[in-house]
Parts: sequence; structure tokens; C-alpha cells
Amino acid sequence: MRMVDLIEKKRDGKALSQAEIQYIIANYTNETIPDYQMSALLMAIYYEDMTDEEIIQLTLAMAHSGEVIDLSSIEGIKVDKHSTGGVGDTTTLVLAPLVAAVGVPVAKMSGRGLGFTGGTLDKLESIPSFQIEIADEDFIRIVNESKVAVIGQSGDLAPADKKLYALRDVTATVSSIPLIASSIMSKKIAAGADAIVLDVTTGEGAFMKDLTQAKRLAETMVRIGKLAKRQVMAVVSDMSQPLGEAVGNGLEVVEAIETLQGHGPADLLEMCYILGAQMVVLAKRAENLTEARELLEEALTSGRALEKFKEMITNQGGDASVVDQPERLVTAKYQIELPAKEAGVVTKLVANEIGVAAMLLGAGRQTKEDTINYGVGLKLHKKIGDAVAVGESLVTIYADSKEVTEVKERLYKNIVIGASAVEPPLIHDIITE
Ligand code: URA
Ligand code: CA
Repeated sequence: MRMVDLIEKKRDGKALSQAEIQYIIANYTNETIPDYQMSALLMAIYYEDMTDEEIIQLTLAMAHSGEVIDLSSIEGIKVDKHSTGGVGDTTTLVLAPLVAAVGVPVAKMSGRGLGFTGGTLDKLESIPSFQIEIADEDFIRIVNESKVAVIGQSGDLAPADKKLYALRDVTATVSSIPLIASSIMSKKIAAGADAIVLDVTTGEGAFMKDLTQAKRLAETMVRIGKLAKRQVMAVVSDMSQPLGEAVGNGLEVVEAIETLQGHGPADLLEMCYILGAQMVVLAKRAENLTEARELLEEALTSGRALEKFKEMITNQGGDASVVDQPERLVTAKYQIELPAKEAGVVTKLVANEIGVAAMLLGAGRQTKEDTINYGVGLKLHKKIGDAVAVGESLVTIYADSKEVTEVKERLYKNIVIGASAVEPPLIHDIITE
């Protein structure tokens, strides 16, 4: 086989075979195929799309390009949850202990944040001495004993995706549905879960800004999951404004604790119940979504979910006493209010720009090499649809420097106050097999 012939075939709109896709992925991973040829193929895929059969073959080839984790020694149906990224998206921190508290094993591998999106690993690492690197045997033992562990992705998980993603990033080929679907699903399949709940975000703070595209991505991933013999469903959720009120690592852990205590933001809690109920049903711990939700509500109100969060922190070497003293996670030197300049209702709270504002404070990374300041971030006091009076605080800025002019300007520009607002729905669609 010659790569040039395969590029030509895709350029001319023909489908690549299983053997051809396996050849490409194997030889790109072992560096026989150079980046310039792979770039040309990626651009051809971007324009010519792929059939479901091609996407599943690409997904499986990437999933098998490195370690495939075997979770079969964990009892029960292992359910994973994956979000395509957002701003202030604190759901995993709440969901993992909440779902585990009703007996569903949660063996989750999470990622780091980049740009305006936050990552669960960074949030967890704001808990003193919390370990996200855990050996496979210990990971499996902890989940068997305690039903929950959230760790970093092992270095050898889907290495083909790691290389391809870096190449896509610099060749303007990220926003291609077959490439995103195969990238996400290859990692989920390699991570070993039996069932996967996908949270496909849409709006300003998401990858897929457009709802139609987000639905197509969700449908594609659900079909791929089925072909790969995993149970997959997707929730298409709104990310036009940040989720919850906290944006920033330590602040989001505090928000997760408050939510598990029953007094967190309503949108975050509702999102956790929606995604959690789907996870509980896929894991066959409940017959239907209503029953699943009742189990989750009971786990939360009884305090068992909060206890599970403490247990998870302790099992992963962290200091669980922060759950009772969450103020220890709020280490920023200054708390600066952002008073409203006019009265009205909030009509826009542009999620990606709010994410950038938090990043400028040090809560996120501009490049992969940047270090994170866990104590800084934003607490939003008003969401879309809320009434505001002049002088009322829109946001508390948690900063380590008094000089926050740029952050304030960005926030003022992206928190739009008008006469009336249409509140975005939390969920746009639910896609099942
Ligand atoms: N997230 C991924 O893991 N891959 C993509 O291609 C896009 C988002
Ligand atoms: Ca949040």
C-alpha cells in the first residue's frame, strides 16, 4: 500500500477500507507516514467526510494503537461519562460520587483543561495531595472496593489520537465530525467502560457552537458506540453560558461540595440528575429514568453522596477535611466585585469569554505548558434571565493581583444587560440508539 494512493482515493470522495485505515493508523503511529502526508489526508477527510463504516474502523484502529484497559475484573456494568468540554462544568466532581453512591461503578479517566475550557483533573488537583496518577491494579481495586475513582488518562491510551490531535490543531482540521467522533470514541473505548454517557455541549462555550452540528456529532458517536458494542447515549446540552456559578478550580470543588450538600446552583444539580439518571439506567441499577432519579435524590439528600466524595478523596491520597472546611480551597488574595453599570436583565453571559477571563486570572492554561493557579477564578452572581440593579455585583473576581482591569473589561463586554432575555434550555436533545 502507498499512502499517496490512499490520499488520492479520499480526495476523490471514495471510502477507505478497513485494511487501508489500519495501515494508515499503524504507520502514522510508528512514524513511517510523515506529517505532511497525514495532513493531506486529514484535509481530504475534512472535505469529503467518512461513512459510518470508515469512522468505526478509524475509531477502533486508534483505540488499539496503544493500551486498551481491561476493566472486566470490576464487578458490574462500568459506566463512563464524557463531556465535549465547557466552562465552569463541574458535573464530573458531583456525578462521580453521586452515581457511585447508588452502587454504579465509576472508573473514570479525565483530562486537563486548555484555553477557555476547564479540565476535571485540574479541579481535583486543587484538593491538597490528591493523586490523579494511580497504577492500573490500584485503580481497579479502589473501584471494586469503593465504586469510584477519577484518574488521569494513562500515557499510552490511544497514542494515535494524541499525534493526530496535535496535527489537526495546526492544520485547521479539528472541526470535522468524523475526526472528532473517532478521537473521542477511541479514547473512551480504550478506557474500557461498558457504557458511556456523552454530554455533547453546544453554544459559545463549546466546540460545536452550532446546534445542528452538535446533534450530528452526538448521533455519529452513538452509532459508533453501537457498532463498537458499547451502550452509548448522548445528551446535547447548552453551553452558551457557564454551568453553575463557579469558574475556576478550587472554586469549582467548593461548588461541587455545596451541590452534594444540597445547596449548590440549581442548573448544575439538574444537569447532574439528568446525566446521572442516564448512567444509572445504562448500568441497569434502575428500570427507568424516574426510578434512577429517585435513587440519586435519595443518595444526595441522605448525605451518602457527600460521604462518597470524601471517601474518593481519601482513597486517592487527598485531604478530605477540605469537604468540611471548603474555605481552605479559596486561597486567592483578593476578592473584587464587579458592579453592574446599568439596570435590566442579563441577556448574555458569553461562556467562552467568561472562560478566557478566568484563564487570564491564572485559572486555566493558554498553552499546554502553563501552570495553573488553583485558588483564583470567578463566582457568577447573575445568570441569563436574572434581574440586576445598578451597582449590584455581577461577579466576584478571585485574584492574586489587584490589577484586574483586563479581566473586568472582558467581563463587562460579555455580560450583556438588556430589557428582556430568553433563558436557554439546559438540554437541547437526548440521543439514544
Ligand atoms: N475532544 C477530543 O478528544 N477530540 C476532538 O477531536 C475534539 C474534542
Ligand atoms: Ca461551575
